[in-house]
Amino acid sequence: MSINILNSSREEVSDAESLSQLGFIDSAKEKVKKLSEELGRTPRACVVTFGCQMNARDSEKLLAILKLAGYEESESEDADFVIYNTCTVRDNADQRVFGRLGQCSNFKKKNPHMKIAICGCMMQEQVAVEKIQKSYRFVDLIFGTHNIYKFAELLNTCLESDRMIIDIWKESDKIVEDLPVMRKYPFKSGVNIMFGCNNFCTYCIVPYVRGRERSRAPKDIIRECEKLAADGVKEVMLLGQNVNSYGLDFEDGDPRKISFAQLLKMVSEVQGIERVRFMTPHPKDFSDELIDVIAQNKKIARHIHMPLQSGNSEILRRMNRKYTKESYLELVDRIRNRLPDVAITTDIIVGFPGETDEAVDDTIDVCNKAAFDNAFTFIYSKRVGTPAASFEDQVPEDVVKRNFDRLLKVVQENAKNQALKLQGRSERVLVEGVNDHDEALLTGRMSNNTLVHFPGDRELIGSFVNVELTECHGFYYMGRRCEESQQLTEN
Ligand code: 5AD
Ligand code: SF4
Repeated sequence: MSINILNSSREEVSDAESLSQLGFIDSAKEKVKKLSEELGRTPRACVVTFGCQMNARDSEKLLAILKLAGYEESESEDADFVIYNTCTVRDNADQRVFGRLGQCSNFKKKNPHMKIAICGCMMQEQVAVEKIQKSYRFVDLIFGTHNIYKFAELLNTCLESDRMIIDIWKESDKIVEDLPVMRKYPFKSGVNIMFGCNNFCTYCIVPYVRGRERSRAPKDIIRECEKLAADGVKEVMLLGQNVNSYGLDFEDGDPRKISFAQLLKMVSEVQGIERVRFMTPHPKDFSDELIDVIAQNKKIARHIHMPLQSGNSEILRRMNRKYTKESYLELVDRIRNRLPDVAITTDIIVGFPGETDEAVDDTIDVCNKAAFDNAFTFIYSKRVGTPAASFEDQVPEDVVKRNFDRLLKVVQENAKNQALKLQGRSERVLVEGVNDHDEALLTGRMSNNTLVHFPGDRELIGSFVNVELTECHGFYYMGRRCEESQQLTEN
């Protein structure tokens, strides 16, 4: 086994690139056809995704290419091509990938045709790649975040080679449009509006593995939404690490330079798109213009996921978040005043270096005052290469655990109280599927992102219906269909 570095520097990428990738899909098709003849069945491919919505969207692109090449989708890693799309935001994500990789090698022992690939954020870290080279030598293909658009080409190379292929780029400032993508849901889709992050929060690895902010041109985003709508998509989620800085990377005077609020308004005007979500805004630049656009626009979902990270101003300063406890709470007030029906959810990190019990008290105070509808709570994970990793005052594990538990209690209490406020309302929901536990029930999502389960026919999947919320079960509701919704949004 040896290493084949295909590209070590940035390449010029243009529209011709997507054409060239389509050519590689054709070549891969021939190879997969041959494999199919050898196996006497259609080869199966499995895409395993870790991490955020951006990765989920990338995985849809990987799956599209595999299917176009002739693979049949497999839920199981007992397949002929397995690709892990990794995350490296926290250490436990890394550990899970290595665990899964280890198990996957057992399938490979039984199936000599099997190829194993690994890509995504974790592969932008040299230590992770070195670990795979050393201890997971059965891996066939490794690539990173910047050249994912070259997957068809890499797949092709991988199918004709017995060597481990490694292709990691340090950066890329190009965006390739018009690559194939296979949606997980026919009725809803993520839409990337920008890539990368410029914020350098001191705990976060993302700016190092995803590179600087690059916005897609508004016309490309609108065109994608129009195509999705024509294809039956009713709900889109605009995706970016910090959507509020959309467009800021275009020069002044460039007609593409529009604000995120303007873009959101344009997307909501696309015929056929009935609901628009976005993720993730940064509190430091959440503008009044954005609040106005949401307030005036019934298609924009009443859900804002706005990471707090900490409620203590000194910790926030050390995190480089560029807001304070007071300014965050003031923003929450402004949002709740203009958007009374909105659900606000958040991310919180416990155990950032230097965090005292009193600092956690501040976070708890913000949770109570902001009355978050839900919160994802994370234990601080030291990421090598980030500034916070070398801060001296790392918090002992038992202190972190104790503070995590008391924060979680408050988060759950607030979530329950917020959910209870919806009791008896009638809401317009997008039916997403059959209930996981009871086939007679459907699951729908409200504008504010809360789930409701109700009896109904599976033909309703993908359409909007009105549901009365009869029984609150903490984070979700049981309900029944009704004629009208009293909802202030959409319609
Ligand atoms: N440790 C713990 N949580 C982190 N996050 C980002 N980096 C870290 C880290 N080093 C959390 C933040 C972010 C979410 C996606 O992941 O809360 O909003
Ligand atoms: Fe990470 Fe901060 Fe960028 Fe979010 S805004 S991706 S937390 S650096």
